[in-house]
Order: sequence, then structure tokens, then C-alpha cells
Amino acid sequence: MEIFRLLKASEFYNISSKNLTELLNKKLIPHVKKLSSANRSSYYIPDLFVEYAKEVFNVENLEEIDGELADFKNKVRTKIITFSNLKGGVGKTSVASNFAYALALLNKRVLLVDMDSQANSSRYLANQYFTGNSVKNIFDALMRKEKIDNEFVRSYIKKIEFENASLDLLPSELALGRVVEFSRAVFTIPHKKLNDILKTVKNDYDFIVIDTPPSTGLSLHMAIYASDLMSIVTDAEDFSVNGLKELSSEIEEIEEETDRSITVDSIFINKVRNSKIHEVYIEAIAKLAIEQQIENVFTIADSTRIKEAQNLHIPMLEYKSELDKGLVMSSSIIEYAIEKALEG
Ligand SMILES: Nc1ncnc2c1ncn2[C@@H]1O[C@H](COP(=O)(O)OP(=O)(O)OP(=O)(O)O)[C@@H](O)[C@H]1O
Ligand SMILES: [Mg+2]
Repeated sequence: MEIFRLLKASEFYNISSKNLTELLNKKLIPHVKKLSSANRSSYYIPDLFVEYAKEVFNVENLEEIDGELADFKNKVRTKIITFSNLKGGVGKTSVASNFAYALALLNKRVLLVDMDSQANSSRYLANQYFTGNSVKNIFDALMRKEKIDNEFVRSYIKKIEFENASLDLLPSELALGRVVEFSRAVFTIPHKKLNDILKTVKNDYDFIVIDTPPSTGLSLHMAIYASDLMSIVTDAEDFSVNGLKELSSEIEEIEEETDRSITVDSIFINKVRNSKIHEVYIEAIAKLAIEQQIENVFTIADSTRIKEAQNLHIPMLEYKSELDKGLVMSSSIIEYAIEKALEG
């Protein structure tokens, strides 16, 4: 997939700017808008969505008029992003896996690291169990004081190929949590150990995405220590707002323990339904995000399509039977991916 940088999106779509603004504002076409000069905006729209707009909105004469491809070449270094929440079942795995895939679609080299011993993202994307063949084995080796190098770590990484893009997975297994907690007794500074592992393969990737368990513990602390950014996934239910406050104090503790400052740059409010009560919770979460200077607040609708795609072990964007729905469902995830990809 390529991303078109459009200086004048209405020309590109060959529709009136009023209609286009409506589509964009309704978030029906995933895009990232950046103010480029005084009163001009640039729209970054992946070509996949251009096809989508053509089909769904009957937009004719959709041609690339600008042709200027976004310049992703000024990449400075690998970015590591952890998805977390202490609350279970909110969609951490769904968002992390689909975000990793969205980056892969944008031609990024992506490694998804499963740090949850439930191994849900491993099973979602790879559709197999990794007992005796996972990140847990790398921790075992570290505890035996064995040398960890790129070749060794790569031997546990699995390439997952989908129809439109591929990404790498460092899978998990049930015993991971126990081994990670046991490592407290072995290492003086245990929370650095995932970072040590990822350092060996970091240069092979543009992005490393980490999925974490729904609990506070060493796995989460290790992930956060290794990360540049953290993204919170939540639902819009009773206790979610309090849960986020608890997570913030947990983050402060982790910052003290690991002597590292953590930037939370996004919140995904997942499983949102059209209801008054959800509106209230979304508003409360958005307020909290402002207080905590979290830049991006995204919502994802509640939809069985997400479960259906997971049952088929494919990313939402490859869920072809309802292409339009798949795109709309993951539009905020792809928007975040575009934003990160453009930041380099
Ligand atoms: N937007 C959504 N609409 C409907 N179902 C969803 C949505 N997002 C996730 N789900 C479903 O909710 C369940 C939990 O999602 P997921 O496994 O991603 O959450 P999690 O936070 O990673 O859970 P855990 O805390 O156990 O790791 C899954 O069955 C998933 O298919
Ligand atoms: Mg999960």
C-alpha cells in the first residue's frame, strides 16, 4: 500500500470540497490531516481507502493528481510501542495486532512481540501454539547466562504472511508469565531484560509493537521499559475511567522503578456503541486524556466483524467479505498507524 500526500484533496476526489469534508469529518475515509501552511492542509490517504471511497461513495474520476508519495525515508530509528491496560478483555490484543498489520501495510518492517502468556495475539495472527518455541525460551537462555544475539533471537521469530502484507511475530506461550516473574530472583535489574532481547533485532525493524497482559507485573514493566511510546486501550464501561486513573498511578510507579519517563500518546476507546451512557464515558475519558496531555483519543465501534476476522485469523483489513466494514472498523487504527509512519 502506498500513501498519497494530497495537497488538494477535493481535486483528487473530483468532488466538491464540501462533500469531501463531510466524508473526512465523518471519518468515513481514514486519513491524517496536517496543516502545512497558513491555510492549507495536506491529507494523507492510503490508496486502499481511495479504492474504498470509489466503491462505497460512487466517487468517479478518482485519479492520482498529485502523485507525490509521502516521504518516509527520513526514518531516524526504530520506534517501540506498547499497548496496555490493567483491565482485561478491552481489546489490547485486537488493537495491537491490527495496528502492527496496518504499519506492515504501509510498507513498514514490523515485529509484534507477544508478552502475554495467554498468547492471544500469537494465536490470532499465526493460528498456532508456540509451546517450547517462544519468547519464553529466550528468557530461559538469559537466565542460564547464555549469549543472546540477533541469530538466536531471530530463531524464535516467525514471519506471518497475509494477502497484502507480512509482519514478524515473536510469540508467547503459557509458561511465559511464570518464567518472567521467576527472573526477578535471577537478575539485579529484571525490568531491562526485554529491552536487552529487543536490542539484538531492533535494527531489522521500523516498528516493534508489544502486546501486554491485563495485569501489573514484570511483563508489563519490561514492555514499558523497552518502549518509546505507550498506547492505552480501554472500553467505555463503568470503572473504565477509574481504571485509567489507576493505570496512570501505576505508570508513575513504573517510571520511578525503571528511572524512565513514559509517553502515553494515545487512547483507543473500544467497543463503543451508540448510546447515551457510552457518550458520557467517552467524554470522561477524553477529559482525562486532556488532563494527562494524551494527544490522541480514538474510538472503535463494537462490532462482531472484529471477532469474525479473529476467528479467521486475519487482520480486520483483510476481512474481505465485508471490505467496507473492515475498513471502517479499523479506520482509527490505520489513522494512528499513518501518523506514526509519517513521524518516522
Ligand atoms: N470493537 C470490538 N467489537 C466487538 N468485539 C471486540 C472488539 N474489540 C475486541 N473485541 C472482542 O473482545 C474480546 C477481547 O478482545 P482482546 O482479546 O483484544 O482484549 P484484550 O484486552 O487483549 O484481552 P486480555 O486482557 O485478555 O488480553 C475478543 O473476543 C475480541 O474479539
Ligand atoms: Mg490480550
